[in-house]
Amino acid sequence: MEKGSYFYSRCLQLVFVFLQTATYVICKPCPPCGTTPVPFPFSTDSTCGDPSYKIRCSATNSTLFFDTINNSYPITSISPTFQRLTIKPPFIGNNSCISPDLSSGGVWLNPALPFNVTSSNTIMLLNCTANILVSPLNCSSNSLCHLIHQSSCQNLPICCTFVAGGSSTSHSIHISTQYCSAYRSYVNLNPAQPVYTWQNNSGLELQWASPREPLCTTQADCEDSTKMNCETSSDSVVKRCFCISPLMWNPISGTCEQSMFLILLI
Ligand SMILES: *[C@@H]1O[C@H](CO)[C@@H](O)[C@H](O)[C@H]1NC(C)=O
Ligand SMILES: *[C@@H]1O[C@H](CO)[C@@H](O)[C@H](O)[C@H]1NC(C)=O
Ligand SMILES: *[C@@H]1O[C@H](CO)[C@@H](O)[C@H](O)[C@H]1NC(C)=O
Ligand SMILES: *[C@@H]1O[C@H](CO)[C@@H](O)[C@H](O)[C@H]1NC(C)=O
Ligand SMILES: *[C@@H]1O[C@H](CO)[C@@H](O)[C@H](O)[C@H]1NC(C)=O
Ligand SMILES: *[C@@H]1O[C@H](CO)[C@@H](O)[C@H](O)[C@H]1NC(C)=O
Ligand SMILES: *[C@@H]1O[C@H](CO)[C@@H](O)[C@H](O)[C@H]1NC(C)=O
Repeated sequence: MEKGSYFYSRCLQLVFVFLQTATYVICKPCPPCGTTPVPFPFSTDSTCGDPSYKIRCSATNSTLFFDTINNSYPITSISPTFQRLTIKPPFIGNNSCISPDLSSGGVWLNPALPFNVTSSNTIMLLNCTANILVSPLNCSSNSLCHLIHQSSCQNLPICCTFVAGGSSTSHSIHISTQYCSAYRSYVNLNPAQPVYTWQNNSGLELQWASPREPLCTTQADCEDSTKMNCETSSDSVVKRCFCISPLMWNPISGTCEQSMFLILLI
């Protein structure tokens, strides 16, 4: 009986802590884009999310778009827990082996923004010239790129395969008429699987750095002054809304929360 009521009250306490935690929202998440959720830290307009994580919403077809330096790609999935999203590069047409984004050089991420290309991507550069052969990429005759089913790119002599995410490919998938005019990208490709299933892994996966606490100029900018103080951070001159101890910044939810350690102590 005694034991039961102890657990009962402990449970209530935990529920209470979690309820409190849930109310400490400071960076307002954005409303859904049509029917597609927009998780924190993404920002579809200036009133919500973190402005460094700006994406665009096309509400009529519930599609989110990720803008690169000279282009825009539909977002096909977002995983806040793993801080990764997948974009869809445009399809290569059946008539010529040229990626529609050739004119803008392929995918170029703005290096000033907190996104990079993950090492889960297997990239195949297609319709290449002999200029590419000086690169360290695998352009041999048994390179995986020779296997893909893409009618306009089949039977072309030079193509190359590489796994992205190295320092030289962390912010771009570079194509050009001088080197390679088309590309395909696959996330978590298992080359042992039959080639006709590869299409299922089509996409380009990006990763984002954890968002920092929101910027502020005065205390009034911090959504909840009982949970946050507008202070200059030790590593820079900008001011941010820092969580008041013992609350801690949670970059996944964008909230000030009790640390797990404290929850366990109660
Ligand atoms: C959705 O709408 C945008 C503009 O409103 C358009 O560019 C895009 O092609 C549409 N469809 C898809 C599947 O993205
Ligand atoms: C391209 O060709 C494939 C088969 O070769 C076909 O299934 C597909 O419908 C074609 N796509 C277009 C847009 O014509
Ligand atoms: C390969 O790329 C070159 C340069 O962009 C283009 O002129 C040629 O038509 C492409 N080849 C095919 C088969 O599409
Ligand atoms: C992006 O666009 C700018 C201006 O239009 C151009 O100068 C630049 O070369 C383009 N970059 C790429 C990678 O195409
Ligand atoms: C290129 O890739 C193929 C297929 O994965 C592999 O068998 C071959 O050893 C690779 N060649 C080089 C030079 O890495
Ligand atoms: C692609 O994935 C879907 C769902 O994950 C699966 O049902 C389907 O069989 C897969 N298609 C191929 C060709 O592997
Ligand atoms: C990509 O971004 C993640 C998260 O910020 C970082 O840990 C990783 O080192 C970056 N990778 C490269 C190759 O820059």
